[in-house]
Amino acid sequence: MVKKSQEYIVKIDTLNHQAQGIARIDGFVVFVDNVLIDEVVKIKIEEVKKEYAKAKLVEFLEKSPYRKDPECPYYHLCGGCHLMHAKYQHQLSLKKLLVEDAFRRIGKLSPKINDVIGMEKPFRYRNKTALPVGGDYKKPQIGFYKKMTHDIVDIDYCLIQHEFCDDVIKGMKEMIKKHKIEVYDERKHQGVLRHIVVRNSFAFDEMMLILVCAKVPENLEAIKKDILDKFPKIKSLYLNLNPKRTNVILGDEDILIWGSSTIKDKIGNLTFEISPKSFFQVNSVQTEVLYSQVVKYLRNIEAEVVFDIYSGIGTISMFIAPFCKKVYAIEIVEDAVEDAKKSSKNNSISNIEFICGCAEIEIPKLLKSGIIPQAVILDPPRSGCEKELLESLIEHKISNIIYVSCNPSTLARDANILYSGGYEILEVQPVDMFPQTFHVECVALFKKGYS
Ligand SMILES: C[S@@+](CC[C@H](N)C(=O)[O-])C[C@H]1O[C@@H](n2cnc3c(N)ncnc32)[C@H](O)[C@@H]1O
Repeated sequence: MVKKSQEYIVKIDTLNHQAQGIARIDGFVVFVDNVLIDEVVKIKIEEVKKEYAKAKLVEFLEKSPYRKDPECPYYHLCGGCHLMHAKYQHQLSLKKLLVEDAFRRIGKLSPKINDVIGMEKPFRYRNKTALPVGGDYKKPQIGFYKKMTHDIVDIDYCLIQHEFCDDVIKGMKEMIKKHKIEVYDERKHQGVLRHIVVRNSFAFDEMMLILVCAKVPENLEAIKKDILDKFPKIKSLYLNLNPKRTNVILGDEDILIWGSSTIKDKIGNLTFEISPKSFFQVNSVQTEVLYSQVVKYLRNIEAEVVFDIYSGIGTISMFIAPFCKKVYAIEIVEDAVEDAKKSSKNNSISNIEFICGCAEIEIPKLLKSGIIPQAVILDPPRSGCEKELLESLIEHKISNIIYVSCNPSTLARDANILYSGGYEILEVQPVDMFPQTFHVECVALFKKGYS
């Protein structure tokens, strides 16, 4: 019987999908943070539940040869990264294990899973971040949340963000003090400045800054002037109003207070317009690798008509457009569809039809109208695809499905639905879009087999 506050010596069997170590004490599962497979550690039990316990690492008795010192001084406090204590090649091996495990456990499948394609420089890769603001105007805090809490770890820099983000962290702290900007207190639902969202273009040195506020700050003009002086790379400055008591970062209303409504960035040779609410992959370098994999699968299929479902600002559509006759791009966010239309014009691409709507409604309509693609690309949010959408693809016997996913668990769940509907999984290619974290992106190729 595992007891709270008791110390044990355990060997770490494996890691779970959140990179927590799993050890067993007389068969009972115990989760431990910051450990690696095969490490022998002394732990202290902090919490005992019916099915598992959580423990704190007390001491290493045998360290993994794949362990390294984390480069970031905030690593053990901040909940943003989870694998910085593992050498990068080992992070990639672990992510492959996580994908295999998700397919086995959730999908009840064991497809061919390739090695994870990693980055040459696995730091400073992120083009977007949302920084919560805490403390008060005398001593503001800007950083990330501590794991599983809403306590802010106050930071001066972040090693996975673009360098401009460090300037914003430093500069905004000075500005909050100078202009006595009221910091939002989520417990009391009082105050003004809630989050600072930063988007940086790697290709064009452009920055979009979004001040997420519960109400319009009193001295907005003076703040704006200071921001423009402090951050010369700024191209677009927004005030986003979020008066609700909610964990959702952005509110409904975006007010452009200076500059352009979008910033531009590039993937490969293509240039894209990006609005505040539009999805854009956070790692521009690895996005090219990811999309090249989609193109590789698609070129083998030689599809004439393709559906790009969950198309965002049309990045995949524009990447694949040269290799097919017609692409139908379906996306729910209106601003993203408008960005996509602008970008396709700027990139001189004319064979994409952009449809703004809900995929699970629009796709069955298109299929019922007799438009049957030879290939479908799915790139849903973390929650995966709606079942009706997959059922409609199965019903219309779509020959090829290329599924891009940022969540192995929902990919495995949906793979099981497709498998039950007569699809084989030919291959899964994981790509590391999120070094130092447990997240991993995958591209999976499905082919209609038996019926
Ligand atoms: C992971 S992003 C992929 C975007 C794009 N394919 C890319 O690579 O940048 C998922 C996209 O699906 C959109 N989305 C979410 N739910 C949707 C739905 N039910 N129907 C259509 N689009 C949806 C989101 O707005 C987001 O742009």
